[in-house]
Amino acid sequence: MSEAEASPAAEQERASDQTRRRFLTAATTGVSAVGMVGVAVPFMASWNPSEKAKAAGAPVKADISKIEPGQMVVVEWRGKPVYVLRRTAGQVADLPSLDGDLKDPNSNGADQPEYIQGSLRSLNDEYLVVVGLCTHLGCAPKFRPEVGAADLGGDEWLGGFFCPCHGSKFDLAGRVYKGVPASANLAVPPYSFEGDNVLVIGVDSEVA
Ligand code: FES
Repeated sequence: MSEAEASPAAEQERASDQTRRRFLTAATTGVSAVGMVGVAVPFMASWNPSEKAKAAGAPVKADISKIEPGQMVVVEWRGKPVYVLRRTAGQVADLPSLDGDLKDPNSNGADQPEYIQGSLRSLNDEYLVVVGLCTHLGCAPKFRPEVGAADLGGDEWLGGFFCPCHGSKFDLAGRVYKGVPASANLAVPPYSFEGDNVLVIGVDSEVA
């Protein structure tokens, strides 16, 4: 079969590979760019099921006890980067003030579980858990927590995520700003907590 006649399954696989490549390229770029702009974001080891089970969509667990306030880590789930950010009290307090600058401040059109509501978009005020793929064309946004960053709006910028591909900006709840190409807030995956220290991505919370 020629490339032009590739089957739908082959096309889907190729698209999936491209998304993964974009993510890996962006992740690598993010690491190499540390020191110029942006913040080091470590990948967090999770105690996972087998690679085969993971590919089939098995949940992953991560120990969040070592994440410092203001720090973000990345956990891989279903081949996607999931950003886990422990927000400071100040970052949480600032979020509602941004509502007027955002396309969908209440996340009415966002891809997120029913139990995620309000401007913080989280089960627990401190921890933001979002899929780290831009809702425009799927690049991995960079974590840019620096308040007042000159290249992101100066005094207006209270920290968030910046997608370098076409300039989309998101706040620290993954809510998209007005005037950028992305139209939707970052997706929130199903997740829950086991006790205070274990995050389970891929299993819904029982909180309704
Ligand atoms: S992919 Fe993020 S702005 Fe286009």
